[in-house]
Amino acid sequence: MSRILAFSGSSRADSFNTRLVAIAAAGAADAGAEVTRINLGDFPMPLMNEDLEASEGMPAAAREFKQLMIGHDGFLIASPEYNSAFSPLLKNALDWASRSEAKDEPPLQGFRGKVATLMAASPGALGGLRGLVFLRMMLGNLGVIVLPDQLAVREAWKAFNEDGSLVDENQQQAVRDLGAQTVKRVQQLSGSST
Ligand SMILES: Cc1cc2nc3c(=O)[nH]c(=O)nc-3n(C[C@H](O)[C@H](O)[C@H](O)COP(=O)(O)O)c2cc1C
Repeated sequence: MSRILAFSGSSRADSFNTRLVAIAAAGAADAGAEVTRINLGDFPMPLMNEDLEASEGMPAAAREFKQLMIGHDGFLIASPEYNSAFSPLLKNALDWASRSEAKDEPPLQGFRGKVATLMAASPGALGGLRGLVFLRMMLGNLGVIVLPDQLAVREAWKAFNEDGSLVDENQQQAVRDLGAQTVKRVQQLSGSST
């Protein structure tokens, strides 16, 4: 069974991005994947600092997040856009997860060959689309297969219903499809489906 890790780049209580990725996660689960949803706020880690890393090693929460990445085949990620880039919470978590802890540890185990689908939501007119450019580039450089389809929800303050679904039914289906497509691609890559 395909294993999908779903998370947003926001730990804000009413995060639009957390709501958005939950929709894609449901689409992935309905497509047959085993989906793990996490909140990066539950993995408190210091800002990456190589002196700290040298003296104290990888923080426990960073190791836990890294192991989750290693243990899953694909990622669904929704990130806020902060000043045209993706969020520092997400960048920091990915930076820690990119580090090897032992000389004989294969590099970038949590990244290479994994499949990712990106999305964003923002109160603004572009929906956080600009931040995804950087996120796509970074993940691609780390060996992740970032799927071409992505989606940005603009004017997010009016885009969601009380129950967390999107007001626009076509958009709701498109986000669910992103989850399902990610599963399909993981299955294709693993040879378990065509
Ligand atoms: C430091 C900072 C910078 C921001 N810059 C942008 C931006 O460049 N583009 C944008 O659309 N929204 C920007 N916003 C607004 C966020 O999109 C908004 O706070 C959004 O709700 C954050 O995502 P979340 O709801 O998932 O927490 C910014 C917010 C903060 C705190």
